[in-house]
Amino acid sequence: MKYPRLGVNIDHVATLRQQRGEFYPQVTRAAEIALATGADQITIHLREDRRHIQDQDVPDTHVVCKKFGLPLNFEMGCSDEMIKKAIIERPEWVCLVPEKRAERTTEGGLDVINEENYERVKAACETIKKNSPTTKISLFVEATPAVLQKCLTLKADAVEIHTGEYAKDFLEKKDISHHLKMYREGHKIIKAQGWGYHAGHGLTFDSLEPLLAEKKFEEYNIGHWIIAEALFIGLGHVIKEMLTLLKKYPLEA
Ligand code: PXP
Repeated sequence: MKYPRLGVNIDHVATLRQQRGEFYPQVTRAAEIALATGADQITIHLREDRRHIQDQDVPDTHVVCKKFGLPLNFEMGCSDEMIKKAIIERPEWVCLVPEKRAERTTEGGLDVINEENYERVKAACETIKKNSPTTKISLFVEATPAVLQKCLTLKADAVEIHTGEYAKDFLEKKDISHHLKMYREGHKIIKAQGWGYHAGHGLTFDSLEPLLAEKKFEEYNIGHWIIAEALFIGLGHVIKEMLTLLKKYPLEA
């Protein structure tokens, strides 16, 4: 039986590290734990402003992925700087995303309907494929038919559908049926060409389930919620260890 793959996005381990400028928590340790537990790939986004993942995290995380024989999914904007990085690192996957400096997180998919954007994405795909032929490319986009049709004219291997709006509607208990219908139609368009159909952004344990029940997406890339939930799953354990240490040293009488 085949199951959907889980890509664990570990950007927010780096967010916590950068907050204090310490060497911990280490993203490589998070990658090790994720892959040793059974995750199918590690996803990291080297943003232009380096707000979380840093340049050295890319090769360091790739070393961990290679140790497990599993893919690194390198999310990046279509800038010359990032294209050069991808060519040097040769990750198994690149996920091309739109990137705006002021945004808090990626706010939507690539607008490939806009001619200028389309040309930029096209050039990025061609340069990456030419210089790193083993790297597969996914395009982070909305699931509208026109966008998906346009994607299929590019040299890529998969689309990753932006699930941010769906996840928001789910959390606010709004109707999600139109999102599911759009994802079903998108699946037909994409699979007719044999491309991969992936999903990501804003997903939680609960909002993932209706998507799983549709059985359409082969891969999910999930980060913020996993890292946030891990805090609570781990908090009691870490406090217990600290208390054990404290109890080894009674105060002077
Ligand atoms: N996929 C893409 C293309 C993204 O940009 C992000 C956020 O960096 C994710 C998946 C993961 O989103 P989240 O952290 O909200 O789970």
